[in-house]
Amino acid sequence: MIYLNGKFMPIEEACIPVLDRGFIFGDGVYEVIPVYSRKPFRLENHLHRLQHSLDGIRLKNPHSETEWRDLFDQVIAKNKENDQSLYLHITRGVAKRDHAFPQVPPTVMILSNPLLAPSEEFLRNGITAVTAIDNRWIRCDIKSISLLPNVLLRQLAVDAGAVETIMIRDSFLTEGAASSIFVVKDQVLLAPPKSHLILPGITYEVVLELAKANNIAYEIREITEEELRNAEEILLTSSTKEIMAVTCLDGQIVGSGKPGAKFAQLHKLYQHYKATTMRGGMAN
Ligand code: PDD
Repeated sequence: MIYLNGKFMPIEEACIPVLDRGFIFGDGVYEVIPVYSRKPFRLENHLHRLQHSLDGIRLKNPHSETEWRDLFDQVIAKNKENDQSLYLHITRGVAKRDHAFPQVPPTVMILSNPLLAPSEEFLRNGITAVTAIDNRWIRCDIKSISLLPNVLLRQLAVDAGAVETIMIRDSFLTEGAASSIFVVKDQVLLAPPKSHLILPGITYEVVLELAKANNIAYEIREITEEELRNAEEILLTSSTKEIMAVTCLDGQIVGSGKPGAKFAQLHKLYQHYKATTMRGGMAN
């Protein structure tokens, strides 16, 4: 069951007019929110980032925080899995094709997909990644639905039999095609700083909070391509993939070739944090 413009319906019955600006221009923003045991995880952060994205494209937020929470609760209740991935999509609405903003209501859609835990294989052996030049625009902090560069970049990984493409801009690491990337160097967890060149990942934020709370040495600073290529460990995070180790980059083994100590520690902390916040109802 999905939510579309004020109504709940089976996905097969949902239709969008061809003049929707999401379809015509990719003119919209989105969020992906993980739900564990029917509770949205870090919802406040996701709603905050949604507001940032809407401000970035000058689109008024169609709902208050309370209204969003209520809509999400209803979508979660109407779908059967306990762990879900909510996909929220807002476009500038339906209007005759013209680049200038129209005065029309936005299109609002919320989908739910089952949220599958990362596979045992990936957790045991890590994943492979390739690198590519980051050729996206310079407002990557907006979670825009115009994802053509990310789609093309991710396909490079698929074509190479890998899982993710890690991007480099001007010899510095930015992020993955659909994930945040960390590097371990000299036992220190390195995170690229938030800027207009990366999406402020919610999982990235959780990992840094966990590092801080557990005295894991970390630094937020620019990471060079060379540091990425010589990393002791490379970690990938996202709302749907949680935390994973990249053990092979462009065909070269990373560190020992197996998920390393920082991955093991952070993965365990993340699972523990997830379980306690869900139990305590403090997920928000
Ligand atoms: N993508 N960077 C990019 C470009 C992303 O698309 C994502 C997430 C992230 C990680 O953000 P978070 O931890 O908040 O999920 C970083 C989502 C999952 C997607 O597009 O499906």
